[in-house]
Amino acid sequence: MSKTYTTINLRKEQTTTWITLDRPNKLNAINATMLQELSEALDTIEKDTNIRCVIITGKGEKAFSAGADITELQKLTQKTAAELSRKGQQVFSQVETLSKPVVAAINGYALGGGLELALACDFRLASDHAELGFPEMKLGIIPGWGGTQRLAWTVGVAEAKRLIMLGDRVKAEEAYKMGLVDKVVSMGKLEAEAEALAQRLCEGSPAALKYAKHAINLVTKGSIESGLKKETDFFALLFSKKETKAKIESFLSQGNKKEGDY
Ligand code: COA
Repeated sequence: MSKTYTTINLRKEQTTTWITLDRPNKLNAINATMLQELSEALDTIEKDTNIRCVIITGKGEKAFSAGADITELQKLTQKTAAELSRKGQQVFSQVETLSKPVVAAINGYALGGGLELALACDFRLASDHAELGFPEMKLGIIPGWGGTQRLAWTVGVAEAKRLIMLGDRVKAEEAYKMGLVDKVVSMGKLEAEAEALAQRLCEGSPAALKYAKHAINLVTKGSIESGLKKETDFFALLFSKKETKAKIESFLSQGNKKEGDY
């Protein structure tokens, strides 16, 4: 656990380890370095038998994560988009298959890749000012890190279509009502609530928790695996379209940003 990361932060509290996404000036947007560092941190955590539970959160009060780093999306070709999709899927599958429970403490915006990361966690707590959604449609793309699959599994096909195809962004209370988050608490209580949940989880037998998680996740197996492959193909294909480039450039030049819009 001695490794120093540049885009995330690891903090060990007794048997729980906090992973904090740490690019607050960019609303904790997930770039290639952050994906790689998350992967390495998860490998380390998997091997450390003293760690019984993981909590993932974002630095600051504004964002858990505003998603994939859009400046990196700008340069993607169909080939590199497929690579990025597979990399993100692999890292978030590491979260999903970690042998220890993982809690997302959603401290603000959880958009695009940020929500995909939260969806790969076992539990989701949200602060009452959090907002969740998939803005990809505005960029001419689709979620490429498991969002099309895990969102539909979590909230059902109808809500998944509303959030992804219409790009509706939901506030924490609505997210709770649709089963997207398990509990909503005030920002001031988020850390303590996440710790308390982790503490309860740490009281369970590590082996029983590991096998319960594994067995429950089998419900989605097959289906998610084939879905993830298709998601990568479609995500990458969209990067061969002129319209995608135009929408991403327009977003980055702030041309299409208006009140209430992504
Ligand atoms: N990738 C890269 N940078 C991002 C980012 C992202 N996904 N989301 C936010 N940022 C950066 C902004 O460019 C800005 O950087 P700057 O200060 O150097 O200009 C900084 O984070 C703060 O964001 P800003 O847009 O000024 O905050 P806001 O409060 O006005 O708006 C959001 C907040 C979340 C509505 C807005 O940042 C947004 O729409 N982000 C993109 C979300 C998205 O489309 N994610 C999916 C990507 S596939």
